[in-house]
Amino acid sequence: MKQLEIRRIYLDYTATTPVDRRVVDAMTPYFTGTFGNASSIHSFGRDAKAALEESRDKIAFLTGAKNSEIYFTSGGTESDNSALFGTASKHSGNGKKHLVISSIEHHAVLHAAEALKKNGSNITILPVDSNGFVSPEELRKAITKETFLVSIIHANNEIGTIQNLAELVRVAHENGVLFHTDAVQSFGKIKFDLKELDADLASFSAHKIYGPKGIGALYIKRGIDFEPTFHGGSQERNRRPGTESVPLTVGFAKAAELAVEEMESERARLSKLNSLMRTKILAEVPGAMFNSPEKNSLANILNVSIDSNEMEIDGEAMIVNMDLEGIAVTSGSACSSGSLQPSHVIKALGRDDKTTMATVRFSFGRFTTEDEVSTAADVFTKIVARIGKRKKVSSPVS
Ligand SMILES: Cc1ncc(COP(=O)(O)O)c(C=O)c1O
Repeated sequence: MKQLEIRRIYLDYTATTPVDRRVVDAMTPYFTGTFGNASSIHSFGRDAKAALEESRDKIAFLTGAKNSEIYFTSGGTESDNSALFGTASKHSGNGKKHLVISSIEHHAVLHAAEALKKNGSNITILPVDSNGFVSPEELRKAITKETFLVSIIHANNEIGTIQNLAELVRVAHENGVLFHTDAVQSFGKIKFDLKELDADLASFSAHKIYGPKGIGALYIKRGIDFEPTFHGGSQERNRRPGTESVPLTVGFAKAAELAVEEMESERARLSKLNSLMRTKILAEVPGAMFNSPEKNSLANILNVSIDSNEMEIDGEAMIVNMDLEGIAVTSGSACSSGSLQPSHVIKALGRDDKTTMATVRFSFGRFTTEDEVSTAADVFTKIVARIGKRKKVSSPVS
């Protein structure tokens, strides 16, 4: 008997995106034709080097950096780790051992900071308000004479909150402290100009913007003291050894160009889809609370929890049931040492553990349609009604 095919809907664009066909086409010649090692001095190497430098020029232009300030890495995680470790070791000699981060950093920053702590650094983790915003005043109070770096995520990957980065950078600089930002989710989705933001270091990743996995970049402002994490050849001006992957850099640059070119129209389209989902969930799902702020938030993320005071619901079952119905979304929990732990980001907003576990992140992208969003909202409503147990009847909270 023929099995019924379920319609699959991908609403997890924040986790990763499919590579855009135009990006694949741009990369293809660099796997077989122009395949040389960019460090070789013969013509094959020179051709590869030219493509590599063209990619660097493009990323620099699109981020507002100089090309000599862009270093290719294997992705966001490496860029974040290098930013923290690379500045920490340069400052350890002068007694500066204090790092400030926010409570809603990606694990690539959070866990790197914890590793630095084991090596003797002190860390301050700044709280956020119920919408995920860091207060510039709290930052000012946290900085000490020993602070060598402030690292604050630009747009959060779970809830979408966009920090007022320029203001936070200003506070760090007024106190003579370097500023790093994880711009993995913001670059290509909202305006990102290092000339305006004035950050000293910034991390990027290609696979969040329809580029290939395994490539990213770290911006290091000219004049910043930086210790490479790895040791080897003299690639990337001695700051990141290893043979550069020219096809991946070409793909990253093409993806970045397309994302920036299409940013405004895409943002408008995704905002409409976001509002549609928000409206439907608010009207139909009892106990729904939004963790994504309505303003200053990425248009492609809608994060929603079910209030544990209103409804008892198993968050994991919610995600599994969504998956069984063909809808791919992420939960408000992360697997840590084999057990599900509530997300540190949702907890930082002040949600209790049960509510945090009952969280779904919908994230939309270039190929998401209105029909998909509408279907996903309906399926979510149906699943919550089926597996949730109402505690009391009242209208939904926004
Ligand atoms: C905000 C943020 N930072 C860093 C990373 C890590 O990037 P990558 O997957 O390229 O290592 C991610 C990816 O999940 C992210 O969303």
